[in-house]
Amino acid sequence: MAISEVADSLQSLTIDNEASSPLSATTQPDIEYHPNEENWKARTARRLAEDPSLPKSTLPAGFPTRLESPLVWEGKDWKDELEWVYNLTPEHLKEIDDAVHHFHGLSKPLGELSRSTFPLPTLAPILSTLAHALYTGRGFFVLRTIPVSSYSHEDNIIIYAGISSHVAPLRGVQDLNAGVLAHIKDLSKTHLAKTIGAPAYTTDKQVFHTDVGDIVALFALETAHEGGVSRISSSWRVYNELAETRPDLIKTLSEDWPFDGFGGDPPYTLRPLLFNHDSKIITQYARRSFTGFLGLPRSTSIPPITEAQAEALDTIHFLAEKYNLGLNFQKGDIQYINNLSIFHARDRFVDTPEKTRHLLRLWLRNEELAWKLPEKLEPIWKRLYYSAMPDEHRFPVEPEIRAASKGGAKY
Ligand SMILES: [Fe+2]
Repeated sequence: MAISEVADSLQSLTIDNEASSPLSATTQPDIEYHPNEENWKARTARRLAEDPSLPKSTLPAGFPTRLESPLVWEGKDWKDELEWVYNLTPEHLKEIDDAVHHFHGLSKPLGELSRSTFPLPTLAPILSTLAHALYTGRGFFVLRTIPVSSYSHEDNIIIYAGISSHVAPLRGVQDLNAGVLAHIKDLSKTHLAKTIGAPAYTTDKQVFHTDVGDIVALFALETAHEGGVSRISSSWRVYNELAETRPDLIKTLSEDWPFDGFGGDPPYTLRPLLFNHDSKIITQYARRSFTGFLGLPRSTSIPPITEAQAEALDTIHFLAEKYNLGLNFQKGDIQYINNLSIFHARDRFVDTPEKTRHLLRLWLRNEELAWKLPEKLEPIWKRLYYSAMPDEHRFPVEPEIRAASKGGAKY
């Protein structure tokens, strides 16, 4: 279907008096990548004045009124970081060092890094227990800390991928040509703004969002001179508040939204942001898909989001902010989070030549522990975890901007 035909059919949807349809909007609401609290409150007040019955709506069929799980938590619940930080002992570090030498001895490509090629006799069972905590416990943990300055850049990548294979063996493809490792670093001084479509490559604040995939791992090669705090928030906690106070927004989130393909083919895709599947609430979305960011503004030739969707986007951001936990992410730390039930964000930061924030990211999956997926997410997972053989996996040593953050790619 041509874009004009899509527009025509959307128009008819509106004419068909489907005022509450997820595709009924004709103009993009006043909403930016950076959430504006005043706009949010004004939009909420306006919508509730127009329809005071919204908070009394019923939840979509089958959606729970309240989630009870260790995955439901608030930042203030955590008193001591030792509850989620696992400190590696000198014996573990020796074991990791031995595994690096062992892997070099095998002369295999980095894609072959696995539990068997990177053996960790005593640390592996601990990582297995921590992996369970990701899927069925609180949903996050931090490993502290790898002495990154003692290793070459390539060896740090080997350590990161090697340890991570014991947490979740499958690595997701994040970029073209089976790139499975992404660098999170400010590239705005070396790249034109118009080529940067994601805040990951700037010093800017990143608002609450999820990546794609089961588990997001971040490895801090270096932290910023100032700021850049990594924040996480339980989307299950946010769900409970919405279910109690604004069930209409749960309905909005569970209907189809027009995700911007930023010039790709197709130009946009439709799917919910929030799923209720196999007794799990799964949230998958990035705000920039609906607002654009810097070099990738929201496409004007695709359906705009609705006022209800704009309110839902801001509401989940501000609720996530309200219940967030700031992680004291240190150089050499590896952070693992359940990306299906935890939002993440990061504060704006300032680099200096001596302290330049540089993180490495992996998208992981542990098939033995993994949750069942809703059908609409299956194509994404297939592309992520099952589209390239391990020996094809590419680990870019130098930072590069992902194709998806330049527009037109599907990752
Ligand atoms: Fe992210």
